[in-house]
Amino acid sequence: MGSATANATTYHNFIDGAWVPSVSGAVFENRNPANTDDLVGVFQKSTADDVARALDAARSAYERWRLVPAPKRAELLFRAAQLIAERKEALARDMTREMGKVLDETRGDVQEAIDMTFFMAGEGRRQYGQTVPSELRDKFAMSMRQPVGVSAIITPWNFPMAIPSWKIIPALVCGNTVVFKPATLTPLSALNFVRILEDAGIPPGVVNLVTGGGADVGNALLVSDAVRVVSFTGSTEVGRTVSSQAAPSFKKVHLEMGGKNVIIVMDDANLDLAVEGCLWGGFGTTGQRCTAASRVVVHEKVYRSFLDQFVGRAKGLRVGDGLDPRTQMGPSVSQGQLDTVMKYVEIGKKEGATLACGGHALTAGAYAKGYFHEPTIFSDVSASMRIAQEEIFGPVVSVIPCRSFDEAIAVGNGVQYGLSASIYTQDINRAFTAMRDMYTGIFYVNAPTIGAEVHLPFGGTKATGNGHREAGIAALDVFSEWKSIYVDFSGRLQRAQIDTAEL
Ligand code: UN1
Repeated sequence: MGSATANATTYHNFIDGAWVPSVSGAVFENRNPANTDDLVGVFQKSTADDVARALDAARSAYERWRLVPAPKRAELLFRAAQLIAERKEALARDMTREMGKVLDETRGDVQEAIDMTFFMAGEGRRQYGQTVPSELRDKFAMSMRQPVGVSAIITPWNFPMAIPSWKIIPALVCGNTVVFKPATLTPLSALNFVRILEDAGIPPGVVNLVTGGGADVGNALLVSDAVRVVSFTGSTEVGRTVSSQAAPSFKKVHLEMGGKNVIIVMDDANLDLAVEGCLWGGFGTTGQRCTAASRVVVHEKVYRSFLDQFVGRAKGLRVGDGLDPRTQMGPSVSQGQLDTVMKYVEIGKKEGATLACGGHALTAGAYAKGYFHEPTIFSDVSASMRIAQEEIFGPVVSVIPCRSFDEAIAVGNGVQYGLSASIYTQDINRAFTAMRDMYTGIFYVNAPTIGAEVHLPFGGTKATGNGHREAGIAALDVFSEWKSIYVDFSGRLQRAQIDTAEL
């Protein structure tokens, strides 16, 4: 998998069943965002040539893998799920070290990969199609799923094992082969995941890992005719490029992009519960979830008491190294991400929002070598401000007062994104009305906007997605195509819609 140097291990790509260096001879460093002195590893800075090799391997492996019976493919995936479970603690530690979120959360990330792998492996014995009566005599009609071909999997750093599992495992159970380009900030978790598939017995070429930047590795995947389906999670801006680059060759494209998720707190809400939910939804994963609750819309009757409690609790959150069990919120993942957070704090102040708490990067003492920022709440935010419209992807929550339920729904829907939304209320009529009227892919009642489970569809509307879903059975639709099959056993020509069966 790699070789130890004086300072850190150098890790390789995985192509055609072998761990190999990039033809470029170039590498990049992966450092701990809680302490940049800690070099996690050195990874291959790959090029289009490496991608071409991986694609060749994936293309030729496809001809064999697609013919392996799906229940057999699934046996291998069940083994992989078992191995992830056995290695859970070490995988979580590696993940915290490379991207910063607290250990409880990286354990959850690994758990999500275990859940997804078991769930999808079950599809080896399902992948149900339809069998329907034909309108003609002595004719049989059915539909079945067929694999698409070579899949390009492009994943983000915020869920470094869960999100790859959401894509790679359904791709494999459907009979596709994979070239996997993980985020440059989290190559170790990606490599750990691929290593598990190797240990579970994945045949050479079925899964290939190529580390490196989007401009080199990502682009080469998008423009290649060998790739038939792309699944991408990342920013809306990059998603737009993915979509347009993949369009000329008519690839299937699944995009999972930004969010500006809202928690609505009504005047009849259990406020203690709502505060707990907003803390977890807003500051869990340092606000770096696509599903993070970066907006809270609060009814004016409870606005002050909600805000006082929320601010009080946010001030008490312990920020630090995610490997320390006392830490409640880790660092931002990178200098770039921290810069974005600081930029939006300035934007919020200029726009006239009230900085209710936080607002500063943490740089003293133990914070000096990491990308730490205070949990930050803006109050008196109006719905049109940039801090209430644009995805920040950091520990910044905008609290927006509202006068009515209808206004809350309008504000909730009044952004370009449509991933997740939630309402805190004791009124079942309001809960169901909000459930119907929030135009998002995910909705919660009396729970925050984060916390989707693997066996339901995950994804969003508007600028969050392009109409596909991952997770749940819906993931199969990304990684398979329908084939409708008609078998005529009448021995004569029967013309559909023209000849009619006799009674
Ligand atoms: C993401 O935010 O990119 O629903 C994924 C959740 C997690 C997955 C989040 N299960 O918050």
